[in-house]
Amino acid sequence: MLFATALIAYCFSYIKGLYYICTMLQQTLIEATRAGAAIMKEYFDKQFTISNKEGVNNLVTEVDHKSETVIFEIVKKNFPDHFILSEEAGAIVQESEYKWIIDPIDGTINFANSIPICCVSIAVEKNGEMILGAVYNPFIDEFFFAEKGKGAFLNDKKIQVSTKSNLQTSCLATGFPYSYLDTLNSPLEVFEKLIRKAIPVRRCGSAAIDLCWVAAGRFDGFYEHKLQAWDSAAGWLMVEEAGGKVTDYKGQVYSPYQPNILATNGLIHEQLLHIINGGNF
Ligand code: IPD
Ligand code: CA
Ligand code: CA
Repeated sequence: MLFATALIAYCFSYIKGLYYICTMLQQTLIEATRAGAAIMKEYFDKQFTISNKEGVNNLVTEVDHKSETVIFEIVKKNFPDHFILSEEAGAIVQESEYKWIIDPIDGTINFANSIPICCVSIAVEKNGEMILGAVYNPFIDEFFFAEKGKGAFLNDKKIQVSTKSNLQTSCLATGFPYSYLDTLNSPLEVFEKLIRKAIPVRRCGSAAIDLCWVAAGRFDGFYEHKLQAWDSAAGWLMVEEAGGKVTDYKGQVYSPYQPNILATNGLIHEQLLHIINGGNF
């Protein structure tokens, strides 16, 4: 009897602890994403310093760093021992089952040119599985949120991928790396094949937003040849939780730690994969 009571008490406190950490993770994610985006809004269309990373058009602005700083403050205040991987600061390695994957501004070139298609993107990985994602574009006030197994949401409303099943009548999105990729089935070759079929392929300049727009059914598919984990981690979860499919270019389970991404509504996935891998219409 005593044992049973102790077991129940233990289970109860374990579940309470789990619930507490889940809520805290979500709250921290939302607070950090909004705080980074508030910095973007404050500096938008104003003066700030811009410098180059490798390559002439791979920019970083003063605002990327400021956004990253406020995001870090919030994450570290609540979870000082979590691993952080962030675009500008790199990896803050810690022994933890949780990893925060942060892009303090996705769409920096847009931001630097006062084009309001840019966002903060943050994902939380637990033991190698993406469990939470948030992407916020403060200029059109669109907050995307996804939780593993619970769906994807735009401003608290559940979203779903599109139902288009023919690639030739689809609306697609892509992006191009800041250095030219001279490889077989390069970004331009794939782009050319689609454009020759008069398929609309948008290039908006923020991979995180592109992925969210697939999740919301605005795009039927998105592909890009060379992304980093912080560009895709949150958007990947968004698409999967909205009922879509995300893979690498071999059609294998997606990992944000390799460069290629194909994210679709699921129905045009094989058709687009075929074109990306050198196939023809
Ligand atoms: C970039 C954007 C862009 C994609 C680039 C990314 P950044 O991220 O997501 O859409 O085409 O490959 O590097 O540099 O603006 O954070
Ligand atoms: Ca990015
Ligand atoms: Ca960035």
